[in-house]
Amino acid sequence: MASVTPSCTTTGGKKKGAATDTAATGPTAPAPLPTSTGTQDSYNRVSMSAPFLALTFDDGPHPTNTPRLLDLLKQRNVKATFYVIATNVRRYPEIMRRIVAEGHEVGNHTVNHPSLAKMSHDGVRQELSGCHEAVLATTGVAPRTMRPPYGAITSAQKAWIREEFGYPTILWSVDPLDWKKPGSSTVASRLVAGASPGGILLAHDIHEGTVAAMPATIDPLLAKGFKFVTVTQLIAMEGKG
Ligand code: NI
Repeated sequence: MASVTPSCTTTGGKKKGAATDTAATGPTAPAPLPTSTGTQDSYNRVSMSAPFLALTFDDGPHPTNTPRLLDLLKQRNVKATFYVIATNVRRYPEIMRRIVAEGHEVGNHTVNHPSLAKMSHDGVRQELSGCHEAVLATTGVAPRTMRPPYGAITSAQKAWIREEFGYPTILWSVDPLDWKKPGSSTVASRLVAGASPGGILLAHDIHEGTVAAMPATIDPLLAKGFKFVTVTQLIAMEGKG
C-alpha cells in the first residue's frame, strides 16, 4: 500500500521510537519498492532480465474467492494487482479495503465490463471514470493503470486514455484461459510454464478453481527464484538486469 500512493506515507507514524531516519516504516519493514506508470501507452510485459513477475487478478472482488486468495497471498508475502469492476467494488467495499491494506495494488477494469474497442470516447470515459471514482471513494487510493475487458482496445484509445487518465493499458504475457475452467492443475502449469522475467500473469479471482491453483502456481515460481511485485512496481524495474 505504501508504494501505491503518496498519501500512504502518512500511515507510517506508529513506530516513533524506531532507530531509523526513514520514518514511514517500522524498523524491520523493508523500504517500499518504487512504482511507475512508465512511458508506454500499453504493456504486455516489462522489459528486464531480473526475475520479477506481476500476478494480476481480474473481475472481482468476489465475496468468498477473493478473501481466500488474499489469505494465500498473505501466507506467502506475495503482492498482486487486482483489476476490479466497479459494480463489485460497490458490493464488497470491505474486501476492497482489505486488498489495499495488505499491500496489493488496484487497477481499473471498468464499471460494467464492456468491450471498449467499439465504444465512443464518452462511453469509455464513463466506464473508466466510474470505476476510478468507486475505487478511490472506497479505498482512498486511486487506480494508476487500467486493463480493458477482453483485452479489447484500439491503439487510438490507448493513447487518449493515457493522455486523459494517465493510465497505461496493462495487458498480459501469460493467459492460462482460466475462465474456461480447465482445472486447477492446468491453470497452474500454464502460468508456471509461461512465466519469464518481466512477465504479467493473467488470472481471475472470481473463479474458485483459479484461486485453488495459486499454491501450485506461486510456490514453484518462488522456488525458481521469481519475486512477485505489483504492476507499477514492475514497470519501475524496466531494464533491470
Ligand atoms: Ni475482465
